[in-house]
Amino acid sequence: MTIRKTFPVIFAAAALASCSSDDAVKDDGPSEVTFPEDFMWGSATAAFQVEKGLGNTDWGIWVKTPGKILNGDDPDVGGPDALANIDADVAVLKAANQNTYRFSIDWARVYPTRDAFDSDQPDADALAAYDKLFAALRAAAIRPLVTMQHFTLPDWLSDPRAPEEPQGWERPETVPAFEKWCQRVAARWAGEVDWWVTINEPLVAPLAGYVQGSFPPGLVLKIDRALEVGRQEVLGHAKCYDAIKAADTIDADGDGKASWVGIVQHQRAVEPELPDEPADVAAAERVRYLNNLWFINAVVRGDWDDDFDGNLDGPKDRKADPALANRSDYLGINYYSALTASARGLVLPVIDASIRLDRLDTDRPKTDFQWDIYPEGLRVILEEVRPYNLPIIITENGIADSADRNRARYVLEHLFQLGLAREAGLDIRGYMYWSLLDNFEWAHGYCPRFGLHTVDRATAARTARPSTAVYANAAKTNKVTRAEIDALPPYGDPTYCE
Ligand code: FCB
Repeated sequence: MTIRKTFPVIFAAAALASCSSDDAVKDDGPSEVTFPEDFMWGSATAAFQVEKGLGNTDWGIWVKTPGKILNGDDPDVGGPDALANIDADVAVLKAANQNTYRFSIDWARVYPTRDAFDSDQPDADALAAYDKLFAALRAAAIRPLVTMQHFTLPDWLSDPRAPEEPQGWERPETVPAFEKWCQRVAARWAGEVDWWVTINEPLVAPLAGYVQGSFPPGLVLKIDRALEVGRQEVLGHAKCYDAIKAADTIDADGDGKASWVGIVQHQRAVEPELPDEPADVAAAERVRYLNNLWFINAVVRGDWDDDFDGNLDGPKDRKADPALANRSDYLGINYYSALTASARGLVLPVIDASIRLDRLDTDRPKTDFQWDIYPEGLRVILEEVRPYNLPIIITENGIADSADRNRARYVLEHLFQLGLAREAGLDIRGYMYWSLLDNFEWAHGYCPRFGLHTVDRATAARTARPSTAVYANAAKTNKVTRAEIDALPPYGDPTYCE
């Protein structure tokens, strides 16, 4: 199975890392950090990772392709089956003192065919299932944070069986269809939802799908197609933003604003593989720009860097395009780790750098996924987005830790950094742990265990891991202290997942 080996390259392109101003992160600072009463404490999932029966998506086709998923795992077998376990999920959210739940609504579940979509005949069972989830959340006073697209696309827009043909975002019909999808979802659930995400991690999917080959359509080193996907997602995001704004005019939570619409980016603290090597430092800068800044520049400032070269001098580049600018009311930030960039190795065109996402040559502790544990990096990437001057939600942060030996420390250390960032003036509104449940981790199947809760493979019963109580306590007290962190055991060796 080669998935493990190639994985570093994937996000490769997705990577990032940083202008790490060590001064900003080495802060002996306070003995505790606090969070406001209305802080959004939550956890996150995505439809394909926790639901069943999404065979009519590109991912549904992909997982049936031999050799693509670690151990041949199948999302329809032994997973959380979330839509059949809504009450259980809402109960464990509530028990963990969470006031927010981030999840996605799956486009192909609601519109299984192109005909159904074109004639606007949504699937009745799908609507009923999501209605039930919203009702249960409302009854428990848990705020939904809803993602319109989390990696999967309907098979009538994206089919990995024909990878040489344009797929998904490459097809001209996808952006207008996505605009409609956003409009309809926002109109239907306007009274339930105020917080929306358009697209989850828009650069991860093309890098994994067209550069690294571990996501559909499974292509390798097709950089030009990957970049075109990124461009189309900017356009799709802007259209979706406008559609939601027009369709959702109901202030569901009474905060005076009917909708908050944001992009979710996968940010990494980008570091040169060899810090004393100027070519690696320059490579890290290019990767950081592409992964962490390029998309945000487009949808916040309207700065369209068509050729991804870091300036707006190209023939198709545009500055402050009003059709793109100011399309993110907040920034959703997924933060897990660092990555390293180098001028040597498998150098990708355009960014002229090679990238490593896991098994980094550092002395930091590692997760079961072989990602570095680097809480201070959270401040690095948060400082990086300060200039955009927008509210921020940590829409994902979490650890693969099947033994649950490192999760409590991981969460509290990241929350501590988050608290320091708030005290340094960043407008951070919430934190979503990834994930509420053990789930189907894309190419790695069920192997990595990110959940606050285990899921029994036979009965789907949810059981809180011990670390959940630690997170629940932070949510309850709106506080994390250094003493609490110091009382936890030091990081132990991971159980590598492969
Ligand atoms: C993020 C994805 C999420 C999950 C975590 C571990 O990049 O958004 O679906 O796979 O990584």
